[in-house]
Amino acid sequence: MREKVKKSKGIMITERLEVTKENIAHAGEIIRSGGLVAFPTETVYGLGADALNAEAVSSVYRAKGRPSDNPMIVHIADCRSLPPLVAADTGAAAALRAALIEAFWPGPITFVFPKSEKVPLATTGGLETVAIRMPSSETARALIRAAGRPIAAPSANISGKPSPTTAADVLEDMDGRIDAVLLGENCKVGIESTVLDLTGSKPTILRPGYITVEMLEAVCHTEVAYDPSLFSSPNDEHFRPKAPGMKYRHYAPKAGVRIVEGSNAALYIEKLKLTEEKNGKKVAVLDYGDDSAGAARKFFSQLRECDRKGIDLILVRALDSDGFGFSVMNRMLKSAGYDVIHA
Ligand code: TXA
Ligand code: MG
Repeated sequence: MREKVKKSKGIMITERLEVTKENIAHAGEIIRSGGLVAFPTETVYGLGADALNAEAVSSVYRAKGRPSDNPMIVHIADCRSLPPLVAADTGAAAALRAALIEAFWPGPITFVFPKSEKVPLATTGGLETVAIRMPSSETARALIRAAGRPIAAPSANISGKPSPTTAADVLEDMDGRIDAVLLGENCKVGIESTVLDLTGSKPTILRPGYITVEMLEAVCHTEVAYDPSLFSSPNDEHFRPKAPGMKYRHYAPKAGVRIVEGSNAALYIEKLKLTEEKNGKKVAVLDYGDDSAGAARKFFSQLRECDRKGIDLILVRALDSDGFGFSVMNRMLKSAGYDVIHA
């Protein structure tokens, strides 16, 4: 039925679904029949498909305009759903898994495990590992339960654009490309989950997020490493991130973005703004002081707002790069193509 609508009209009508019991059940049915539903999570909005249906997963890549070697995160609603998706583990590795899950799920962290046979290679971008997350958003978990299966979901943006943190952001990119969007809450965290690889000799952060290295080490009682690519830029010769998604240009608005760091940053930004405005440019300044949590919550949506206003240049004052600030700076640097001025 859904296929017929797509083919006969050429363009899809995207259903706008308020979060009600009936609509969640309907959205679950869409996922079960191979369709695509965008839904809120505590981090960013996801674009969901049946994680065990290779064809449904391929249509996510098409809707996003995303390279198909970029693996997806599989979302589950409860711990019972995990064992069928991952290869069994024993001894110390099993104890570490259990401790991390107990401490951080449901929540804004994704773990990478060796995958089981059940997970299609289409979902993992051809990898023998699978990234899994149990979101804390009640709406997200209600949808997963209604679908009755794990949901593969990348962020619900066109590939390369800032991740969506409101239902309006999702519609800006996905209206007419997907079956439905759940009009849920704005995202509380505002940047994507921490991705922690548990398949190597030590737990390794592939993408920094709300759950920081300090929080992880307190639970793991061992060193938690960072993927070395997090400290370099794609312009460096040795840039080879382990999370395939980290190699693409990301979070880029149409405007140019420049980061200004250092003790004279605020003053430098004021001067640069005046100079550029004299040259006829429309300039926006994003200065979050030392509020990393506020910056995370607002940054992506403010990039989108700047595009709607026709801003040419966005000047961003750098955050302190410790704790959660490191994770937010990772997104800011990517959006600026690593263009940083030291003032
Ligand atoms: O917060 C989030 O994680 C959001 C919400 C919707 O849950 N999802 C999200 O998905 O950010 P996406 O597809 O935009 O980013 C997934 C990241 C990519 O960098 C990808 O390369 C990495 O996770 N990833 C997925 N599976 C992996 C695997 N098996 N090994 C290494 N990295 C993996
Ligand atoms: Mg993404």
